[in-house]
Amino acid sequence: MQDLTRLDAHFAFGENWRDFASSITAAHIGEAERALDRLLGAAALRGKKFLDIGCGSGLHSLAALRLGAARVLACDIDPASVSTTKAVLQAQSPTPSYEVVQRSIFDLDPAQVGQFECVYSWGVLHHTGDMIKALTRACELVSAGGAFAFALYRKTLLCPLWTLEKRWYAQTTSQRQRTAANLYMGAHRLALRLTGRDPATYVEGYVGKRGMSYAHDVHDWLGGYPYESISPRAVDELMTSHSMHLVRRNVDRRFTRLLGLFGSGCDEFVFSKR
Ligand SMILES: C[S@@+](CC[C@H](N)C(=O)[O-])C[C@H]1O[C@@H](n2cnc3c(N)ncnc32)[C@H](O)[C@@H]1O
Repeated sequence: MQDLTRLDAHFAFGENWRDFASSITAAHIGEAERALDRLLGAAALRGKKFLDIGCGSGLHSLAALRLGAARVLACDIDPASVSTTKAVLQAQSPTPSYEVVQRSIFDLDPAQVGQFECVYSWGVLHHTGDMIKALTRACELVSAGGAFAFALYRKTLLCPLWTLEKRWYAQTTSQRQRTAANLYMGAHRLALRLTGRDPATYVEGYVGKRGMSYAHDVHDWLGGYPYESISPRAVDELMTSHSMHLVRRNVDRRFTRLLGLFGSGCDEFVFSKR
């Protein structure tokens, strides 16, 4: 059986982040800072050691540095994410107090890299090939009294179908990927219209979602393989078993989330270590 924790089993996340990073503006950076502030509070970051697991484009490592983190370690398994994060931080970081490494969460040993007052991993651990092991390792990297902020795909009825779709999309040609993405976006726009929302306004306002871009997030959603998902209750149970205490969570309780027609969507959590 294929080992899904290996890079060669993964969707080319880094290429997507490289493309996204070429269009990062002050508006994206501002929104990334606001999102981090909303989730963790700038006070929780100022002067703290911050670990960004699965840094992607590096946008949120940059936001942490701009919000006053004393030291940032950004890691990603994908070499294109690592080179993109390095370039973004070199160009935009207000301080050189950061390190960017190509490393899997499974190879981040607290005995070597130490523990962090703030561990951040947004939309990552469900793509590692072993989400529960990755969550466990991330908890070990949080120092006593420190915070662990993360986002994970919600378990929905359509998750098994999305898993098949992602496995196909991650391996198919870029032309087929574009066709699939156009079909998805067409159907999504129609659904927005049918529910009384204007698709153009939705896409324009998308930067308000942590500074991200609609087209890049669609590609990431359709291709994000390996894929796992989890219910908020299962997150709570796992975190409790690791002596983590819930600080905040942003969980969408709408009935429509049960199905996951256009994706399972991420729930956000912040836990602190006793
Ligand atoms: C959906 S992207 C999220 C990027 C970023 N955190 C953000 O919020 O924009 C997931 C990232 O996790 C990385 N990743 C996947 N498996 C990983 C692992 N085992 N260790 C570290 N990073 C991993 C991918 O390469 C990708 O850049």
